[in-house]
Amino acid sequence: MLPIAVAVTGASGSIYAVRLIDVLLDAGRELHVVISPAAAQVFRDELDPHLDVDAFRIEDYLPSSQIGKHEVLERYRFKDRNRSTAAAGERGQLHVHHHQNFHTGIASGSFLTGGMVICPCSMGTLAAIAGGQSANLIHRAADVHLKERRKLIVVPRETPLGPIQLENMSRLAAAGAVILPAMPGFYQQPTSMADLVDFVVGRICDQLGVPHALFERWGDSESAAPTN
Ligand SMILES: Cc1cc2nc3c(=O)[nH]c(=O)nc-3n(C[C@H](O)[C@H](O)[C@H](O)COP(=O)(O)O)c2cc1C
Repeated sequence: MLPIAVAVTGASGSIYAVRLIDVLLDAGRELHVVISPAAAQVFRDELDPHLDVDAFRIEDYLPSSQIGKHEVLERYRFKDRNRSTAAAGERGQLHVHHHQNFHTGIASGSFLTGGMVICPCSMGTLAAIAGGQSANLIHRAADVHLKERRKLIVVPRETPLGPIQLENMSRLAAAGAVILPAMPGFYQQPTSMADLVDFVVGRICDQLGVPHALFERWGDSESAAPTN
């Protein structure tokens, strides 16, 4: 199994990133993670008001952390629904890279990956990638995934969307990226924020080909209902 690149940027929805990273590690996947400075600010605003953004370490917020900061996420009450499908029970390795470190593997096409996810993806990062800029490691790794024709999954979060943002998404889709907006469906009858987060994270896992049990699939039960 090839490693997966995960970028976290300063759009709303920090919880999606924490849950995605935890689920992928639980599924035994090796991860190369990059976090933008704005992502740390949003993390403080949304999840931990006591966070020192200059000392932010996403690993401290994962359930496996000894630091215990993951307790600030308890209000989401995630069930460990993925653990039943974790590959051989072996947790994957986590590498976190500085956003300006262009010496790391994911900055080069010669470093093989099983794909890249940007979750959540800000409109700023979206524009930078659509414009072919490589001002930080996130833009550069995304550019590499597109040029190498590897899977790039972009999870934008903004509303409403203007023509520039829609054009940028369209450009990335034309270049081969999967645009997977942070838009949870409600036909799964969610009863918690955790259900809504897991819907989006599960759809990202589907795109990566990572097995999960984060939601019940449409058609798996006999109950009535909707479209897609
Ligand atoms: C609390 C908070 C929420 C934000 N939410 C969004 C958002 O949902 N979408 C977005 O595009 N930008 C959002 N921003 C603005 C971005 O963080 C900002 O444009 C930043 O420059 C993005 O940088 P990055 O792409 O390098 O992470 C938010 C900022 C803050 C402080």
